[in-house]
Amino acid sequence: MSYNIALNFEDGVTRFVSCNEGETVLDAAYRAQINLPMDCSDGVCGTCKGACHQGDFDMGEEYIDEALSDEEADQGMVLTCQMVPSSDCVVEVPVAS
Ligand code: FES
Repeated sequence: MSYNIALNFEDGVTRFVSCNEGETVLDAAYRAQINLPMDCSDGVCGTCKGACHQGDFDMGEEYIDEALSDEEADQGMVLTCQMVPSSDCVVEVPVAS
């Protein structure tokens, strides 16, 4: 099972990647040779922060509040290094492609 993830970059470019069951968006993008912003890939730095308003996903419990606050999570913000999709998703990436 895999999901189609649309990555909407700030400059208007959209790239699609296929994300396997249990795989993070960051890893799926990397596999597709798309570099998303990241520093730690551990849910600590917040560098990979984006937003997802379409689709279902699990963010797990591993990330720290400094990387993504509960309030940000409630607003649909995500850490792509922690985000494991459970449906097709649209992710806003706040950098140029
Ligand atoms: S890369 Fe550091 S929190 Fe995701």
